[in-house]
Amino acid sequence: MRVVTTREELRAARAELDVVGLVPTMGYLHDGHLSLVRRAKKECGAAIATIFVNPLQFGPKEDLGSYPRDRERDLALLEETGCDVVWTPSDTDVYPPGFDTYVDVEGITDGLEGAHRPGHFRGVSTVLSVIFNVVQPTRAYFGQKDAQQVVVVKKMVGDLGMPLEVIASPTIREPDGLAMSSRNSYLDPTERERAVVLRRALDAVEKAWQDGETHGALLRSAMMQVLDAEPLAEPDYVSIAHPDTLEELDHVDPAVGALASLAVRLGKPRLLDNVVLPPR
Ligand code: PAF
Repeated sequence: MRVVTTREELRAARAELDVVGLVPTMGYLHDGHLSLVRRAKKECGAAIATIFVNPLQFGPKEDLGSYPRDRERDLALLEETGCDVVWTPSDTDVYPPGFDTYVDVEGITDGLEGAHRPGHFRGVSTVLSVIFNVVQPTRAYFGQKDAQQVVVVKKMVGDLGMPLEVIASPTIREPDGLAMSSRNSYLDPTERERAVVLRRALDAVEKAWQDGETHGALLRSAMMQVLDAEPLAEPDYVSIAHPDTLEELDHVDPAVGALASLAVRLGKPRLLDNVVLPPR
Protein backbone atom coordinates (compact mmCIF):
# COMPACT_ATOMS: atom_id res chain seq x y z
CA MET A 1 0.00 0.00 0.00
CA ARG A 2 1.37 3.41 -0.96
CA VAL A 3 0.70 6.43 1.22
CA VAL A 4 1.02 9.76 -0.62
CA THR A 5 0.56 13.41 0.31
CA THR A 6 0.79 15.82 -2.62
CA ARG A 7 -1.45 16.00 -5.68
CA GLU A 8 1.56 15.09 -7.88
CA GLU A 9 2.40 11.97 -5.86
CA LEU A 10 -1.20 10.88 -6.00
CA ARG A 11 -1.42 11.40 -9.76
CA ALA A 12 1.75 9.32 -10.26
CA ALA A 13 0.42 6.47 -8.08
CA ARG A 14 -2.97 6.57 -9.81
CA ALA A 15 -1.35 6.43 -13.26
CA GLU A 16 -0.03 2.95 -12.45
CA LEU A 17 -3.56 1.64 -11.87
CA ASP A 18 -6.33 0.93 -14.36
CA VAL A 19 -9.90 0.73 -13.01
CA VAL A 20 -10.01 2.46 -9.61
CA GLY A 21 -12.63 2.48 -6.85
CA LEU A 22 -12.33 5.56 -4.62
CA VAL A 23 -13.38 5.76 -0.97
CA PRO A 24 -13.20 9.35 0.30
CA THR A 25 -13.09 9.55 4.11
CA MET A 26 -12.31 11.90 6.98
CA GLY A 27 -10.45 9.10 8.78
CA TYR A 28 -11.08 7.49 12.17
CA LEU A 29 -12.17 4.52 10.17
CA HIS A 30 -14.76 1.95 11.17
CA ASP A 31 -16.23 -1.14 9.51
CA GLY A 32 -18.55 1.04 7.42
CA HIS A 33 -15.55 2.64 5.68
CA LEU A 34 -13.70 -0.68 5.42
CA SER A 35 -16.71 -2.36 3.81
CA LEU A 36 -16.57 0.37 1.13
CA VAL A 37 -12.86 -0.27 0.56
CA ARG A 38 -13.50 -4.02 0.28
CA ARG A 39 -16.29 -3.42 -2.23
CA ALA A 40 -14.18 -0.95 -4.24
CA LYS A 41 -11.30 -3.41 -4.41
CA LYS A 42 -13.57 -6.31 -5.39
CA GLU A 43 -15.51 -4.43 -8.06
CA CYS A 44 -12.69 -2.31 -9.52
CA GLY A 45 -9.53 -4.33 -8.91
CA ALA A 46 -7.82 -1.40 -7.18
CA ALA A 47 -8.90 0.83 -4.30
CA ILE A 48 -7.75 4.34 -3.41
CA ALA A 49 -8.84 5.84 -0.08
CA THR A 50 -8.46 9.46 0.97
CA ILE A 51 -8.16 10.68 4.55
CA PHE A 52 -8.82 14.39 4.88
CA VAL A 53 -10.76 16.23 7.59
CA ASN A 54 -12.20 18.89 5.32
CA PRO A 55 -12.40 22.25 7.12
CA LEU A 56 -14.73 23.65 4.47
CA GLN A 57 -17.63 21.37 5.45
CA PHE A 58 -17.60 22.28 9.17
CA GLY A 59 -19.58 25.25 10.52
CA PRO A 60 -17.86 27.74 12.86
CA LYS A 61 -19.49 26.13 15.93
CA GLU A 62 -18.92 22.54 14.82
CA ASP A 63 -16.33 19.96 15.86
CA LEU A 64 -13.47 20.53 13.36
CA GLY A 65 -10.89 20.94 16.15
CA SER A 66 -12.02 17.90 18.13
CA TYR A 67 -12.93 15.61 15.21
CA PRO A 68 -11.36 12.23 16.11
CA ARG A 69 -8.13 11.38 14.32
CA ASP A 70 -5.85 8.29 14.41
CA ARG A 71 -3.68 8.20 11.33
CA GLU A 72 -1.52 5.18 12.25
CA ARG A 73 -4.53 3.01 13.09
CA ASP A 74 -6.33 4.12 9.91
CA LEU A 75 -3.34 3.23 7.74
CA ALA A 76 -2.96 -0.19 9.40
CA LEU A 77 -6.67 -0.93 8.83
CA LEU A 78 -6.51 0.15 5.19
CA GLU A 79 -3.44 -1.97 4.59
CA GLU A 80 -5.16 -5.02 6.14
CA THR A 81 -8.23 -4.38 3.98
CA GLY A 82 -6.22 -4.48 0.75
CA CYS A 83 -6.28 -0.78 -0.14
CA ASP A 84 -3.73 0.06 -2.86
CA VAL A 85 -3.15 3.78 -2.35
CA VAL A 86 -4.03 6.19 0.45
CA TRP A 87 -4.02 9.93 -0.14
CA THR A 88 -3.51 11.88 3.10
CA PRO A 89 -3.23 15.46 1.84
CA SER A 90 -2.56 18.53 3.97
CA ASP A 91 -4.98 21.47 3.85
CA THR A 92 -2.78 23.21 1.25
CA ASP A 93 -2.50 20.09 -0.94
CA VAL A 94 -6.29 20.19 -1.29
CA TYR A 95 -6.71 23.97 -1.17
CA PRO A 96 -3.51 25.57 -2.53
CA PRO A 97 -2.89 29.21 -1.57
CA GLY A 98 -5.29 31.44 -3.50
CA PHE A 99 -7.88 28.67 -3.90
CA ASP A 100 -11.06 30.42 -4.99
CA THR A 101 -13.34 27.87 -6.67
CA TYR A 102 -16.42 26.45 -4.98
CA VAL A 103 -19.11 24.02 -6.09
CA ASP A 104 -22.62 24.55 -4.80
CA VAL A 105 -25.44 22.11 -5.59
CA GLU A 106 -28.69 24.06 -5.18
CA GLY A 107 -32.21 22.93 -4.29
CA ILE A 108 -31.67 19.48 -2.83
CA THR A 109 -29.29 21.00 -0.27
CA ASP A 110 -31.98 23.34 1.12
CA GLY A 111 -33.57 20.84 3.53
CA LEU A 112 -32.44 18.21 6.05
CA GLU A 113 -28.70 18.52 6.83
CA GLY A 114 -28.42 21.51 4.50
CA ALA A 115 -30.96 23.46 6.58
CA HIS A 116 -29.20 22.66 9.85
CA ARG A 117 -25.61 23.01 8.60
CA PRO A 118 -25.37 26.05 6.28
CA GLY A 119 -22.41 25.71 3.91
CA HIS A 120 -21.88 22.04 4.73
CA PHE A 121 -22.72 20.67 1.29
CA ARG A 122 -20.80 23.45 -0.47
CA GLY A 123 -17.78 22.18 1.47
CA VAL A 124 -18.52 18.54 0.60
CA SER A 125 -19.11 19.26 -3.12
CA THR A 126 -16.00 21.41 -3.37
CA VAL A 127 -13.66 18.94 -1.69
CA LEU A 128 -15.07 16.04 -3.70
CA SER A 129 -14.61 18.02 -6.93
CA VAL A 130 -10.92 18.40 -6.09
CA ILE A 131 -10.60 14.75 -5.02
CA PHE A 132 -12.45 13.41 -8.08
CA ASN A 133 -10.37 15.57 -10.44
CA VAL A 134 -7.06 14.56 -8.93
CA VAL A 135 -7.83 10.85 -8.38
CA GLN A 136 -9.89 10.32 -11.54
CA PRO A 137 -11.66 7.26 -10.13
CA THR A 138 -13.83 4.93 -12.19
CA ARG A 139 -16.26 4.68 -9.30
CA ALA A 140 -16.63 6.42 -5.96
CA TYR A 141 -18.19 4.66 -2.95
CA PHE A 142 -20.24 6.31 -0.19
CA GLY A 143 -22.20 5.02 2.80
CA GLN A 144 -25.99 5.25 2.61
CA LYS A 145 -25.96 6.51 6.21
CA ASP A 146 -25.32 10.00 4.81
CA ALA A 147 -28.28 9.74 2.46
CA GLN A 148 -28.46 13.42 1.50
CA GLN A 149 -24.72 13.45 0.75
CA VAL A 150 -25.26 10.56 -1.68
CA VAL A 151 -28.06 12.43 -3.48
CA VAL A 152 -25.98 15.63 -3.63
CA VAL A 153 -22.87 13.87 -4.97
CA LYS A 154 -24.89 12.03 -7.63
CA LYS A 155 -26.50 15.33 -8.70
CA MET A 156 -23.14 17.12 -8.89
CA VAL A 157 -21.55 14.31 -10.90
CA GLY A 158 -24.53 14.26 -13.29
CA ASP A 159 -24.83 18.04 -13.67
CA LEU A 160 -21.12 18.60 -14.27
CA GLY A 161 -20.63 15.48 -16.42
CA MET A 162 -17.90 14.10 -14.18
CA PRO A 163 -16.74 10.79 -15.71
CA LEU A 164 -17.32 8.45 -12.77
CA GLU A 165 -20.05 6.35 -11.24
CA VAL A 166 -21.28 7.08 -7.70
CA ILE A 167 -22.16 3.99 -5.66
CA ALA A 168 -24.09 4.01 -2.38
CA SER A 169 -23.46 1.06 -0.09
CA PRO A 170 -25.77 -0.09 2.74
CA THR A 171 -25.27 1.37 6.20
CA ILE A 172 -23.16 -0.87 8.44
CA ARG A 173 -24.56 -1.19 11.96
CA GLU A 174 -23.33 -2.22 15.41
CA PRO A 175 -24.92 -5.43 16.75
CA ASP A 176 -27.63 -3.40 18.56
CA GLY A 177 -28.53 -1.51 15.36
CA LEU A 178 -26.65 1.79 15.85
CA ALA A 179 -25.29 2.99 12.50
CA MET A 180 -21.49 3.09 12.54
CA SER A 181 -20.06 6.61 12.59
CA SER A 182 -16.74 8.14 13.61
CA ARG A 183 -18.73 10.51 15.86
CA ASN A 184 -20.09 7.56 17.91
CA SER A 185 -16.76 7.82 19.74
CA TYR A 186 -18.11 10.98 21.45
CA LEU A 187 -20.83 8.97 23.26
CA ASP A 188 -20.32 8.09 26.92
CA PRO A 189 -21.39 4.55 27.96
CA THR A 190 -24.93 5.61 29.00
CA GLU A 191 -25.45 7.65 25.83
CA ARG A 192 -24.08 4.79 23.75
CA GLU A 193 -26.67 2.45 25.27
CA ARG A 194 -29.48 4.91 24.61
CA ALA A 195 -28.35 5.69 21.05
CA VAL A 196 -30.16 2.58 19.83
CA VAL A 197 -33.28 4.79 19.99
CA LEU A 198 -32.48 6.04 16.45
CA ARG A 199 -32.73 2.52 15.05
CA ARG A 200 -35.90 1.91 17.07
CA ALA A 201 -37.50 5.04 15.60
CA LEU A 202 -36.64 3.78 12.11
CA ASP A 203 -38.06 0.34 12.95
CA ALA A 204 -41.31 2.09 13.95
CA VAL A 205 -41.58 4.01 10.67
CA GLU A 206 -40.75 0.89 8.64
CA LYS A 207 -43.52 -0.96 10.46
CA ALA A 208 -46.03 1.86 9.92
CA TRP A 209 -45.14 1.89 6.19
CA GLN A 210 -45.49 -1.90 5.94
CA ASP A 211 -48.86 -1.64 7.72
CA GLY A 212 -50.09 0.67 4.96
CA GLU A 213 -49.53 4.20 6.37
CA THR A 214 -48.86 6.76 3.62
CA HIS A 215 -49.44 10.11 5.39
CA GLY A 216 -46.17 11.98 5.80
CA ALA A 217 -47.26 13.49 9.13
CA LEU A 218 -48.20 10.12 10.62
CA LEU A 219 -45.02 8.46 9.40
CA ARG A 220 -43.00 11.31 10.96
CA SER A 221 -44.91 10.98 14.21
CA ALA A 222 -44.20 7.21 14.32
CA MET A 223 -40.50 8.16 14.58
CA MET A 224 -41.06 11.12 16.88
CA GLN A 225 -43.03 9.10 19.44
CA VAL A 226 -40.10 6.72 19.91
CA LEU A 227 -37.58 9.58 20.16
CA ASP A 228 -39.77 11.52 22.62
CA ALA A 229 -39.72 8.55 24.99
CA GLU A 230 -35.91 8.84 25.34
CA PRO A 231 -35.01 11.81 27.57
CA LEU A 232 -31.36 11.96 26.38
CA ALA A 233 -32.40 12.29 22.71
CA GLU A 234 -32.97 15.79 21.30
CA PRO A 235 -34.27 15.41 17.75
CA ASP A 236 -33.19 18.08 15.22
CA TYR A 237 -35.57 16.71 12.62
CA VAL A 238 -37.46 13.65 11.44
CA SER A 239 -38.20 13.58 7.74
CA ILE A 240 -40.24 11.72 5.18
CA ALA A 241 -38.92 12.91 1.84
CA HIS A 242 -38.95 12.00 -1.83
CA PRO A 243 -35.95 9.68 -2.37
CA ASP A 244 -34.58 11.71 -5.32
CA THR A 245 -35.70 15.32 -4.84
CA LEU A 246 -35.61 15.18 -1.01
CA GLU A 247 -38.81 17.24 -0.91
CA GLU A 248 -40.81 16.72 2.29
CA LEU A 249 -43.94 14.69 1.51
CA ASP A 250 -47.50 15.13 2.78
CA HIS A 251 -48.39 11.88 1.13
CA VAL A 252 -46.07 9.07 0.05
CA ASP A 253 -46.82 7.54 -3.33
CA PRO A 254 -46.71 3.76 -2.68
CA ALA A 255 -45.26 3.28 -6.17
CA VAL A 256 -42.27 5.52 -5.29
CA GLY A 257 -41.65 5.10 -1.55
CA ALA A 258 -39.68 7.59 0.52
CA LEU A 259 -36.53 8.29 2.43
CA ALA A 260 -37.20 8.27 6.19
CA SER A 261 -34.38 10.08 7.96
CA LEU A 262 -33.57 11.68 11.28
CA ALA A 263 -30.93 13.72 13.04
CA VAL A 264 -30.73 13.54 16.81
CA ARG A 265 -28.47 15.20 19.33
CA LEU A 266 -27.46 12.72 22.01
CA GLY A 267 -24.95 14.18 24.43
CA LYS A 268 -22.15 15.77 22.40
CA PRO A 269 -22.71 14.24 18.97
CA ARG A 270 -25.47 14.81 16.51
CA LEU A 271 -26.30 11.39 15.06
CA LEU A 272 -27.87 10.68 11.67
CA ASP A 273 -29.65 7.64 10.38
CA ASN A 274 -32.17 6.72 7.69
CA VAL A 275 -34.02 3.91 5.96
CA VAL A 276 -35.52 3.77 2.52
CA LEU A 277 -39.26 2.98 2.60
CA PRO A 278 -39.36 0.87 -0.55
CA PRO A 279 -42.11 1.08 -3.19
CA ARG A 280 -44.89 -1.40 -2.57
O1 PAF B 1 -18.68 11.49 4.44
C1 PAF B 1 -17.57 12.00 4.71
O2 PAF B 1 -16.76 11.48 5.50
C2 PAF B 1 -17.20 13.33 4.06
O3 PAF B 1 -18.32 14.15 3.92
C3 PAF B 1 -16.46 13.17 2.72
C4 PAF B 1 -17.34 12.49 1.69
C5 PAF B 1 -15.20 12.37 2.93
C6 PAF B 1 -16.07 14.56 2.16
O4 PAF B 1 -15.21 15.22 3.03
